[in-house]
Amino acid sequence: MSSLLPNFFESAGSPVPMTELDLPSHATAAAAPSILAQIVNPGINLAIFERPPSQTCLSSVEALMQSRVPIRIDFKNPSTADLATAIAAAIASGIPRSSVRALASDISHLASLFSATAGTLHPRVRLERVDDDGCALFHADSLNLRLLCTYAGPGTEWLENSNTRRHELGLRSRTLDEANADIVVDPSRIRRLAPWHVAIFSGRSRPGAEDNALIHRSAPVLSANTPRLRLCIDLPADCGC
Ligand SMILES: [Fe+2]
Repeated sequence: MSSLLPNFFESAGSPVPMTELDLPSHATAAAAPSILAQIVNPGINLAIFERPPSQTCLSSVEALMQSRVPIRIDFKNPSTADLATAIAAAIASGIPRSSVRALASDISHLASLFSATAGTLHPRVRLERVDDDGCALFHADSLNLRLLCTYAGPGTEWLENSNTRRHELGLRSRTLDEANADIVVDPSRIRRLAPWHVAIFSGRSRPGAEDNALIHRSAPVLSANTPRLRLCIDLPADCGC
């Protein structure tokens, strides 16, 4: 059986290379998980832990992407003590449980990182295989903090503050393309998170940072035929897009 992973890890379009030098002042990135804690610093609305794909997780991801079973778990207020076991059990329906343990452990680890950063013991943890374009309109989330990690397929697209016309946010009787064209100053500067990179970003409900929420959208996957496997971790009371 040939591997499907090369296609899943291709990014649609041409993401702007992301190095420390390229980043705007409101974003920060490093190859160490401690960078995520900087999201609480004033003026920062995006912190990125840059990491390579985990070789021990690749078979898990491939199994989930090839499965005919819909992949969607949503743990509200889980105990972090046995989260890896619970996740493995939840996503193993129709899939050999042994093939998802490594991924479940990675998700549990990321939940712990988010908990430490956001100051919550019981984050909301969602893992989903996404086959549509999701939130295709550039927007700010109506929540405090969110962690995203795309295990397969194109990552979330985001905008530098200087590349955003915030007063144009919202659909407001325009087509999707018309609204995005008004919101984005320069489409060639649209950024995209890389697969496996871990991002924590701020939303409109973050106290003191209401006007500095990260503007972002789901990467289009329909036209590129590249489904995603996306992890989303929020504070337990948050449910915004
Ligand atoms: Fe969003």
